[in-house]
Amino acid sequence: MAPNPIATHFVSVRSPSQRATLVFRGGLSCVRESALHVASVDRLVSGGLTPPRMPGESLLSGHAGAFGESALAFYAKCEQQGGLVEIRIWHKTAYVATDPLLIDEILRKKHDHFVKPLGLQVLRAAFGQGLLTAEHDTWVLNRRMIQPAFQSHKLGGYAEVAYRLARQRFGRFKDRTVVNVSREMAELCMSILMQTLFGDSEREGEALIFELTKAVQAFTLDYSRFGFPPFPHLLPTWSNVRFRRAVRDIDRWLYALIARRRRTSARDDLLGLMMNARDPKGVELSDRQLRDETVTIFLAGHETVSAALSWTLQLLAMHPSAQERLVVEIDNKEALPPSSELPFLEAVVDEGLRLYPPVYRIGRLAIRDCSVGPFLIPKGANVLMPQWAVQRSPRYFDSPDAFRPERWDDTMRRDLPRFAFFPFGGGMRVCPGAGLSVREEASVLQAFFERARVEPLRSKAPEPFQGLTLTPPDGNLELLVAPREARLSSG
Ligand code: HEM
Repeated sequence: MAPNPIATHFVSVRSPSQRATLVFRGGLSCVRESALHVASVDRLVSGGLTPPRMPGESLLSGHAGAFGESALAFYAKCEQQGGLVEIRIWHKTAYVATDPLLIDEILRKKHDHFVKPLGLQVLRAAFGQGLLTAEHDTWVLNRRMIQPAFQSHKLGGYAEVAYRLARQRFGRFKDRTVVNVSREMAELCMSILMQTLFGDSEREGEALIFELTKAVQAFTLDYSRFGFPPFPHLLPTWSNVRFRRAVRDIDRWLYALIARRRRTSARDDLLGLMMNARDPKGVELSDRQLRDETVTIFLAGHETVSAALSWTLQLLAMHPSAQERLVVEIDNKEALPPSSELPFLEAVVDEGLRLYPPVYRIGRLAIRDCSVGPFLIPKGANVLMPQWAVQRSPRYFDSPDAFRPERWDDTMRRDLPRFAFFPFGGGMRVCPGAGLSVREEASVLQAFFERARVEPLRSKAPEPFQGLTLTPPDGNLELLVAPREARLSSG
């Protein structure tokens, strides 16, 4: 058997009383205690170990209680255990991987041993064979055709659209007032996506996409509430009826729009670029494929950016000195050479994504037995990789729960292990919208702080709602917003 690549990261291994101390080489200069039940160094190297079981399970439901109470807190406990742990939710066994080296193996080096998890597969009724849910040859072909639409030279155009629409919107702030920033960001990001995709605003489409997003959330919630049944579409639930109706309505609208676009001349928006794409045999995307990709982009690219912006505004509201530094940088932009980015703004965006990653865990299903580090993950097992827990680990970040944009200096960016910060995933299935999102976030924040400032209404940030993405609870996040001329606090 070929040597396990992860073994090369272990400099010394000892196993008194069934425990191992692993010293990691490479970028990680730290020593990690890992509660591995090591039978022998040989087995450690060959990837044959059963991962240790996460403590604290109940006889009947396994870890379902702790998981149901707060998946985020549960993932954090798994991370404290280190590496990879086995968990049980009722009758289902799964694994939680929190070591960046192991995540690297799963998402990148051994990606062909895994597919997207069942939880995403059941959403094919909405996403169809769009990039997020497609697998194998369909995915390879579609990704090749669609990727060029996200290329970096087009990002400038998307950022301009975001900046222009945000300025228009924030121009409305005339008085110091309480604003539901979560709703503001959802509406703004919807119009940015509409412009980016269709070069236009589509009022009917906006309402339908909002409804589909909510229907998907409700459907997913019921799916987990009923213990992940194999055929969730057959459950006699209201969320099922709502989900089917939302898909039917969106299809009617989108197919009509695609038909209209086929009759008119080509445009340079995302839909136009996808319509122009050809596979190696010169075949274009069918109406069904265009529909699937468009719905996927909406579901994958709307709530994520809007949640990231809402959380980042909350963090800035709670940290006036960081807000002040950002405002100064934005105001001094004119003084900077034209090519310079805004480094502190960039750091604010990254720090927001670190503390509140909209996609807070990535899942994979093993399609064959697979060695990951010293462990064996059996065929059919689900593996969860929670950004939430890894990105808040003291192993990689000092004062990990603190909002400190200034930590993102060149040294930190260089030394951070590849999968210690992975808000956009990684490997083959890395988010194609990553560049676009970061530019969009930066443009919206720049437009916001050119016009206004924010203050928190409460001393603590609300607990996030743990749905498909990590959103503010009930889509509500209220902050005090004041135009730049007005005084921020009454005191
Ligand atoms: C802050 C914003 C965003 C975050 C945090 C985010 C995060 C992610 C993550 C973690 C994945 C990988 C999921 C996995 O490996 O299972 C992903 C995939 C994807 N994202 Fe994003 N995303 C964001 C914005 C966007 C935008 C704006 C778009 C499109 C305009 C987009 C389109 C997609 C698509 C199509 C996929 C599937 C890629 C594939 O499997 O080939 N995302 N995203």
